[in-house]
Amino acid sequence: MAISKKKRLSVVAAAAALALVFTGCAATEGDSEGAAQVEVFSWWTGGGEAAGLEALVAEFNKVYPDIEFVNAAVAGGAGTNAKAVLETRLSAGDAPDSFQGHAGAELMDYITAGRLEDLTFLYDSEGWKDVMPATLLPLITVDGKIYSVPVNIHRANVMWNNPTVLADNGIEVPTTWDEFFTAADKLKAAGIVPLALGEQWTQLHLFETVLLGSLGTDAYNGLWDGTTDWGSADVMTAIDVFGKLLTYTNDDAASLSWQDAAQLVIDGDAAFNIMGDWAEGYFRSDLGLVENEGYGWSPTPGSVGTFQFLSDSFTLPVGAKNRDSAISWLKVAGSAAGQDAFNIKKGSIPARNDADKSIYPIYLQSAMDDWGSNKIAGSLTHGVTASNAWKAEIDTAMALYVVDGDADAFQAALVTAAEAQ
Ligand code: GAL
Repeated sequence: MAISKKKRLSVVAAAAALALVFTGCAATEGDSEGAAQVEVFSWWTGGGEAAGLEALVAEFNKVYPDIEFVNAAVAGGAGTNAKAVLETRLSAGDAPDSFQGHAGAELMDYITAGRLEDLTFLYDSEGWKDVMPATLLPLITVDGKIYSVPVNIHRANVMWNNPTVLADNGIEVPTTWDEFFTAADKLKAAGIVPLALGEQWTQLHLFETVLLGSLGTDAYNGLWDGTTDWGSADVMTAIDVFGKLLTYTNDDAASLSWQDAAQLVIDGDAAFNIMGDWAEGYFRSDLGLVENEGYGWSPTPGSVGTFQFLSDSFTLPVGAKNRDSAISWLKVAGSAAGQDAFNIKKGSIPARNDADKSIYPIYLQSAMDDWGSNKIAGSLTHGVTASNAWKAEIDTAMALYVVDGDADAFQAALVTAAEAQ
């Protein structure tokens, strides 16, 4: 029997209302047994990263002992796998209660697509506007509304070293790419891999630090707002440096995780590795190494005085099944106690200006000083400077270059990608 259009609409409305009643129950009660829970999505399963998450969860359990934490982490550095799984879940209307995303262009994608709830009310109730860094808030704000809770600030432009390998080979930490290549030749001759490298995203990470160190901070920042020309001779110089660097890396890079690559340095098989400071969390929290003995660090060549940052932040997706529990989770993620517990393990500094520096380990104290005094640049690989789509185009072009070494084609693809923005 045919039903009128008006009737059809009211049937749909009734069904929707019923669905709301059911979701409403789920939202306040959690699982079918009635226990409150919160499902949190991240990619922190690996060395150093899981330790950070566990510390934050321990703090959450302390504050909210009646809410069960459901860990929905998907393995894979930089969220390469996790982001694909998240997209599938969000498109299917199966949002986790909170997910990890990077402050900046990456989260803007979700915000402008209407996938995140406005969290300004939490900033008001928790007093976060006064303590969260002024650099971060604009990256997660649209029309005056703030859409996520930053839990940390990581540094991307760090070059880790093995102090024993450097001392044994008479190598000073290089501060320019030219100095790096001089050291690299010496190390290569001694049978040591100069620069440990891992899978594709770690190569993009390396490339962004080369762009930064080669162009300088202002010109690097200009790449993302259209004031620096991707077709310039300076960008070609950066591509050439990157290409040359690849000849000083391990042959099995494509099959190594970031932890595997970092491990080459720790084991003394390689001298240097360029990686974000989650590596420091791995060295200290997981491997139990001592600063300046088991590992040393410096800004990547050419980037002394610049802090290239990224920030992990947690969200409240529209349609979260356990909304109240998610808000509890976010309160802990933004709290001073939550951030101290998390960041000391994770190798990052808190996304708050009021942390007690003295309780942080040596490397993190130096990172806090640099964050407060250096020039600031954003990370490409970790979501600050470019949308997911733009980043994907740069990544694809870079991966081709790694295989075919065609610098002109690489630069042309970078120009095309930028023009499309
Ligand atoms: C970054 C993330 C860090 C760390 C790293 C390696 O994108 O912001 O917290 O997890 O990936 O997986």
